[in-house]
Amino acid sequence: MEYRGYDSAGIAVERDRDLTVRKSAVRVGELRALTEGLEGAVVGIAHTRWATHGAATEANAHPHVDESGRIAVVHNGILENAEHLRAQLVEQGVVLASETDSEVLAHLIAAEVRQGRRLEDAVRESLRGVEGTYGIVVLDAQRPDELVAARNGSPIVLGLGEGEMFIASDVSALVLHTRQVVYLEDGEVATVRAGDYHTSTVDSRRTDRAPTTVDQSATDFELGGFSDYMDKEIQEQPEAVGRALLGRLDARLGTARLDGLGLDPRELRGIRRVKILGCGSAYYAGQLGAAMIEELARVPADAEPAAEFRYRNPVVDPDCLYIAVSQSGETFDTLATVEELRRKGARVAGAVNVVGSAIARECGSGVFLHAGPEISVASTKAFTNMTVSFAMLGLLLGRVRDLSATQGKRIVEGLQALPDRIAEVVEQRAAIAAVADRFADAEHMFYIGRVRGWPVAREGAQKLKEISYIHAEAYQASELKHGPLALIDPSMPSVVVVPDDELIGKNLSTIEQIKARGGPVIVVTNADLPCDLADAVIRVPRVEPELDPILLTIPMQLFAYHLARKLGRDIDKPRNLAKSVTVE
Ligand code: AGP
Repeated sequence: MEYRGYDSAGIAVERDRDLTVRKSAVRVGELRALTEGLEGAVVGIAHTRWATHGAATEANAHPHVDESGRIAVVHNGILENAEHLRAQLVEQGVVLASETDSEVLAHLIAAEVRQGRRLEDAVRESLRGVEGTYGIVVLDAQRPDELVAARNGSPIVLGLGEGEMFIASDVSALVLHTRQVVYLEDGEVATVRAGDYHTSTVDSRRTDRAPTTVDQSATDFELGGFSDYMDKEIQEQPEAVGRALLGRLDARLGTARLDGLGLDPRELRGIRRVKILGCGSAYYAGQLGAAMIEELARVPADAEPAAEFRYRNPVVDPDCLYIAVSQSGETFDTLATVEELRRKGARVAGAVNVVGSAIARECGSGVFLHAGPEISVASTKAFTNMTVSFAMLGLLLGRVRDLSATQGKRIVEGLQALPDRIAEVVEQRAAIAAVADRFADAEHMFYIGRVRGWPVAREGAQKLKEISYIHAEAYQASELKHGPLALIDPSMPSVVVVPDDELIGKNLSTIEQIKARGGPVIVVTNADLPCDLADAVIRVPRVEPELDPILLTIPMQLFAYHLARKLGRDIDKPRNLAKSVTVE
């Protein structure tokens, strides 16, 4: 699971009824070198860690092992009562080898095994005393014919091979070996042997999990000649958007078909509000989408960070369509929000990329993004497909209300043209790289947008800080003079988003205000603005005005990418970040 972002890694294998453990606080590449000589082993567990409890050290890397060296555990998630459990273990005389929450699992399970319990029962018993989230796999060196996995809030998927079995936290790790997979549900335990598997609940009820076939192959996850995944995924966007639109546009009626929502026209008309919930870039995509939905359908729509929403005990509106948006479908805060909304009887649909993921399953209805596997931590093609999906939702909701057939057809044509227009922007990458090079020594940048340009600016700033580590701050153009303008000087470049819409005059005067204070300006626009308007002008083609923000985001990705590249950053795996944030 290297691609998800990690800070240490480890592996434990069984040989001659004994565990051999190797760990690295550097990279998986180093771990590979440390595993020389372990080739004969037939069962093992490995892990890439993203530190939550305790620093990124070898001691804190997983797998964690009990004192007798018999039980090894890998764990994703966070144990909330870890301090209490650690204190209890210390009281019992156990010497803890790490600062992690996860280590307690190895000791708890080992204690149950010592009392004669089968591994599966020992895991079950131990999990009863544990609060928090987990996706775990457990290996008992004395019983090397089986592995036990359990899930609560962190994904676990079994891969069914022929005479061999796999367990992972993401199907991307499995597709090289098998496309037959079984997704565990929260509260489930699986025992996996080379030739079979069975599942049950933590409280011992048998469950029946039928395998599903993954609709992706190993090549979807390969770099295929690109130097990094972010570059590949930026360039894949025309096809990815084509897939999102496939079979969903009705040119004759000027509308969209989103059958996965499971809503008939009467129910669509009954929706009085749309609220989009997600985290990070998914939230910004939601903000961009909400603006399009409101514009096309004249239905009040907004977006909110999922965690903020659930912690403020929101008033749940029965006439609101709540949408959980997520690339991975496993983001903890978004999933918890869906659960909370469902508990309160709300109507929640998913806008999710990974089929079979927890959020997709919990929502039960929605729109799959069809972006294909997104490996780079920085989201690009999934972000774009989120916005395209929201545009289709806006169109659909608009066409059961006051959006005329003519207007609907105009939007359909605009959407159909998007893949080609995106390809035209991607083709400008050398020119955008040249602009990025000129600003590579900036320590801070502003991203300025107004109305349609505002979510674009937010996502632009997010991309830049995430992969280049340059401090970037997004502001509404109208807010500049209420404070941030004080920071403008020749060392503070501003990226200003200028859609060719009725607000262009206001955006041009914002540019003048920045220039008057000596601030360098980079304009990203689809208007015919003169090249000498600013220090750099990046132009994108026109689409339909309502869809402009989708296209204006693409140069933001390329600008951040080339700047990060110029600075020699680890683009696909930025420091401190993980691809799927399955912890709170
Ligand atoms: C995007 O570039 C970021 N890596 C991050 O903000 C991401 O969008 C967020 O963590 C949500 O992920 P999700 O779409 O998988 O739910």
